[in-house]
Amino acid sequence: MKILVTGGAGYIGSHVVKQLLDKKNDIVIVDNLSTGFQKTINTLKKYALTKKVKLSFYKVDLSDSKKLEAVFAKEKVAGVIHFAASIVVSESVRDPLKYYENNTSNTINLLKACLKYNVNKFIFSSTAAVYGDLEPRYLPAKEDGPVHPMSPYGQSKLFNEKIIQDVAFVNPKFKYVILRYFNAVGASVDGLLGQSTANATHLIKIALETTLGKRKKMFINGTDYNTPDGTCIRDYIHVDDLASAHIKSLSYLNKNKGGVFNCGYSKGFSVREVIDMMKKVSDNDFKVEITKRREGDPTAVVSNNTKIISEMGWQPKYDLKIICETALAWERKI
Ligand SMILES: NC(=O)c1ccc[n+]([C@@H]2O[C@H](COP(=O)([O-])OP(=O)(O)OC[C@H]3O[C@@H](n4cnc5c(N)ncnc54)[C@H](O)[C@@H]3O)[C@@H](O)[C@H]2O)c1
Repeated sequence: MKILVTGGAGYIGSHVVKQLLDKKNDIVIVDNLSTGFQKTINTLKKYALTKKVKLSFYKVDLSDSKKLEAVFAKEKVAGVIHFAASIVVSESVRDPLKYYENNTSNTINLLKACLKYNVNKFIFSSTAAVYGDLEPRYLPAKEDGPVHPMSPYGQSKLFNEKIIQDVAFVNPKFKYVILRYFNAVGASVDGLLGQSTANATHLIKIALETTLGKRKKMFINGTDYNTPDGTCIRDYIHVDDLASAHIKSLSYLNKNKGGVFNCGYSKGFSVREVIDMMKKVSDNDFKVEITKRREGDPTAVVSNNTKIISEMGWQPKYDLKIICETALAWERKI
């Protein structure tokens, strides 16, 4: 198949493109390079050559419907995987319109192009942020459970979910998969790709920067949560496992109309466990200080992943050790 990937120059998109190339799909990437990288495109182009498949890149912003439709007119793709978005939760609180514009309005532009050019397979990157701070009785989070986004970022993604479902409802041929990612981390196991995002501030990135001496120390924000070691718990998923969920989603759409699926390990790791693992794999007992809780940090966010496993046959392969090892290898490389 020929698949159009928006945001393919970014972190998760590039890992998915690589697996699509492994499966001999031709790829069309649309990206404005706002947070993605030309060097990632170059790496993927070289990789496509080794696989003897085609990869085309268009530097196009999704707000530019005219240029976007020109890509659809020229490339005649069979499906779209839509990663392109703004993704910084704190920025979305300061600048909500940026998020409703880039994430929601631009998704509408993309859906219009799909309908106009008869592209009927659509896979969308949603997020665990749609769940917000769930009461313990709703954890692990299930796809049909309550959703309460706590930021314009999460809300912009939830709007998109509804818009995609409404489009599918009135267009019988249009099929979709909405994947709600938990925390995507790690780097490709063969070392080809990883996260180059400027100013990433998630826990694993900070631990990497600390162990490599870019930071003198790191902080644990609160050790008085109601968890076994007192620190917050999150569900981390290796980016290659997340990528394979997209490959499964494409096959799923051959026989099914669509659905919403969590992508996580159904297993949380505490902040302390992540830091301890990073210390172990880097063989460095770097300095960690305890500070008070940050406002708005939920105690635990963990997925229930039984739906994607039972309906798509997806199986994650990796664990926290591989996550930390691959992330460390990539951070050393860049
Ligand atoms: N990283 C995570 O842990 C995580 C968790 C949940 C959901 N997601 C979702 O996954 C998707 C990919 O995230 P990522 O971590 O790879 O982020 P990223 O910033 O690395 O990738 C986003 C890509 O989209 C491109 N882009 C942004 N706006 C665009 C526009 N208007 N037109 C064209 N291209 C545009 C950027 O240049 C970039 O290459 C996003 O939709 C994000 O909301 C990510």
